[in-house]
Formats: sequence, C-alpha cells, structure tokens
Amino acid sequence: MPELIPVEPFDIIIFGATGDLARSKLFPALFHRWCDGQIPHTSAIIAAAREEMSSEAYMEQAAEHALGPDPSPERQTLWAEFARHVRYMVVDARGAQDKSGGDGGWGALKAALDPDPNKARLFYLALPPSIYGAACGAIGKHGLNTPGSRIILEKPIGHDFHSARQINEAVGAVFSEDQIFRIDHYLGKETVQNLLVLRFANALFEPIWNAGGIDHVQISVAESVGAGSRASYYDLSGALRDMVQNHILQLLCLVAMEPPASLDADAVRAEKLKVLRALRPVTDQSVGTCVVRGQYKAGLIDAAAVPGYAEEIGEDSKTETYVAIRAHIDNWRWAGVPFYLRTGKRMRARRSEIIIQFKPVPHDVIQADAGALQPNRLVIRLQPDEGVKLLLMTKDPGPGGMRLRYVPLNLSYAETFEKDYPDAYERLLMAVVRGNLGLFMRRDEVEAAWRWIDRLIGAWRDGACPLLPYAAGTDGPDKASLLLSRDERDWFDADSV
Ligand code: BG6
Repeated sequence: MPELIPVEPFDIIIFGATGDLARSKLFPALFHRWCDGQIPHTSAIIAAAREEMSSEAYMEQAAEHALGPDPSPERQTLWAEFARHVRYMVVDARGAQDKSGGDGGWGALKAALDPDPNKARLFYLALPPSIYGAACGAIGKHGLNTPGSRIILEKPIGHDFHSARQINEAVGAVFSEDQIFRIDHYLGKETVQNLLVLRFANALFEPIWNAGGIDHVQISVAESVGAGSRASYYDLSGALRDMVQNHILQLLCLVAMEPPASLDADAVRAEKLKVLRALRPVTDQSVGTCVVRGQYKAGLIDAAAVPGYAEEIGEDSKTETYVAIRAHIDNWRWAGVPFYLRTGKRMRARRSEIIIQFKPVPHDVIQADAGALQPNRLVIRLQPDEGVKLLLMTKDPGPGGMRLRYVPLNLSYAETFEKDYPDAYERLLMAVVRGNLGLFMRRDEVEAAWRWIDRLIGAWRDGACPLLPYAAGTDGPDKASLLLSRDERDWFDADSV
C-alpha cells in the first residue's frame, strides 16, 4: 500500500446522500480511506438527504457499491464498523421549512457537528448545481460556516457562463474563494497528477515542449458506457458540457501551461487560466471545419448488442454523445500547433490518453534501407492500463543493413509500481481535509472555460455543425477523421500507439 499521510480529524456532511454520486463514489471513497486507517475516528460522517430513512437502512443500500458482490468476511467486518460511524440525517439542503414548520433538519445537523470552529468541516454538495446557491445560503443562515469549513462543489458548475457566474456569486456570498473546492475528478487521477511530474521533474521534455518541437497534440477520452441512468442530466448537457468544459480542458491546460514557479495552488491555477484565456474562439466561420458532433445509434460493444441513444433515453434528442474539436492556443509557445480533442460515449473501448506528436528530425542522415524515419511520440495513458510510452527510432539489431524500427520505451504503472493507489475521489477528499486547493478549479478557470464553450455552442447552433450518427462500438462519426486528414494527420489508432 502507498505510505499514508494521516489527516487531522474532520467532519463531513454529504448533501444529496441518496443520489448516485454519493452512493457510487463518495461512500466507497470514504470507506476505502477508513479501511486504510486514514480517517481519524473522531471524525463525524453525515449522510444528508430529504428522504426519511434510518442510518442502518441507508448504509445497507450504500454497502452494495462499496463492498461489491462478494465481499470477504474481513471487508464485511470493516464495513460494519464504518457503518456504525455514519449517521444519516433528514435535511432539506435548499433550506426550506418542513411541513410542520420545522427548520428542515438544520438545527439537528448543527447539533451533530463538532462546535470547534477550527476543525475541518466539509460540506459536499452532491446535488444539482441549481441548488448550490440555496444550500450555501442555508449553511450560512443556520450558522454552520465556521473558519474551518470548506464547501465542495461537483461539476458541472452551471450550464453556461451566465449560470456558472450566478452559482459562483451565490456560493461566494457565503464562502470565501479559499473555502471553495470545485471538483474535477480528473485532477485527482494518478496519471493526471503525473503530467506535472513528467513535464516539470524531467529536464529533457521542456526544451522541445513547444511549437518548435511538437507537431500536434491529441487528447482522447473514450468511454464504452452510454448515458445510462444519468440520461435526464446527460440529455441537457451532452458531451461538450459534460466532458470537454471540464475534464478535457483541464488536461489541455496541464499539457499546455507554462511552468509555474511552484506547485502552490494559485501558481498552478494562474498558469492554467492563461491557457484557457488564450484558446482561439470557435466562430461561425470556423465551426464547420473544426468541430464534429455525433450521437450513437445501436451497435455492438464487446460483441453485445446495445441500443442507440434515442432508444436508451426513450425519445428523439439533439444532444451530442460525441464531440471532436481542433483547438488552437494563441500564444508564443503553441502558435500553429493544433490540439485535437475528442470524447464520446459508447465508443469501441474505454480509453483515455494524451498523445504528444513531436516533429521529425530536420535532416535524414540515416537514409536507412528499410523503415522510414518516424517522429517521436509520447503517449500518456490515463486509463485503463495507466502508463507512459515514448516511441523512438531504433536500429533493428543484426546484419542486413541499416534497418529501422519504431519501438516504445514502455512504463506500465501496473508492472513498475506493483501497488494499488487511491482512486480520484479518495485523493480529492483527503486533499480537501488538508485544504490543498491545487487539485481544484478556481472560479476564474471555470468561467473562462465556459466562455470558450459558450462561444462554440453559439457557433454550432445554426446548423453549421450537424449531429452525425455513429454506431455504438466504433470510434465515432467518420467525419471526425476529416478534422485531421484535412491537416494531413490521423487520429492515432488506439491499438497502434
Ligand atoms: C463524469 C461525467 O464527470 O466523468 C460522466 O459526467 C463520465 O459522463 C465520467 O462518464 C467519466 O469519468 P471516468 O473517471 O470514468 O473517466
């Protein structure tokens, strides 16, 4: 196991505890930290929602996700111990009064919390963003915002720039910016954190990490799952808002930002913000050639038939489940270097990676008999099979003249590190307890990302960017390859890199 750095005792209140996020991610994450002994037993863990329920009934439901289908007796014992520690409370997060004129459960919640003003107190809003403002208002009104308090907001922060700003204003009316932890769970992934180390703890990349050395960058986040049980949220959101506005733009920032002076939260966030602000706006004129949108139809995933998006959600929809974009960062470092971004649901396989394609050598001295020179390529595999590959030209050993081979230096996490590590939510929750803002999005970053996305949506609204069908289990609409072939490039095939 990784070496654990203990955290101070804290209290956490998860609003929206009966929702999917709390059950599938947050309680399993807390349980895993509990099992590793990282959560001090003087911490209060409170699940809060409107539904009447006992703590025992709630934890029985939560067990399903956290324990999996066939837990060992040891895990069951640990779960029983953890479950005794969790309290379920009926609280109306919007701060509404209950039918009997009561305070919606807020008084009881206050009484259940440690009154020590400096103890870390985490309010996790696993709620629809439209309620964030009301929930923060209620926390403030009932006097629960202590100096040690932190508020955790899930993405999406709003639906567009305007709504994001409204939410940020409402939250900011109660909490100061350094109390606000806006989650983008990709920032908690081990391989995403490694991007900083790869770039800034190795001297060899930085001198060519620019338009002089890099031909282009591809960032792909492919999922084989469909909209599933989240269809009501997803249909209002679509791939661009659900994945690009946050996860993919954050990855882009980490690849493209200038070296920060330190890993201090604001130093890193200031550099990311500069990248977001330098993104070239997609206009009515450019949208047709730099954006492709698609929606999945019925198809086969791992040889099993799956329905199309419209059948899955039960109605026709204009929501995109796939989007590919050619983006440009208009600054000195990246002038002329395209960043190709793509994400989709019901793709051939779950696979997320960043590919840095370097430029060719300026002159071919080798003139090999066999095997053309290929430019170096760095493949950062985010998930699954986390790893880093650097593709190099090498002489094929042995007689027979100068034959070249393009082969990878391969760093596989599984083989190299041989250990489990905490998942993104586990890491992020512990980071909030420690008050480490570096793994969270600052208000201006979120708003800058929305500005770029809004402009793009505005440009595709008038039909310049039609919704193209693709069969589930494929790599998305055929036209997505045109984005690159027009530039005499190709998406790197998932299996060939
Ligand atoms: C979420 C999106 O933020 O990220 C989901 O809302 C998506 O639609 C998920 O499935 C992907 O996360 P991960 O960690 O499985 O890549």
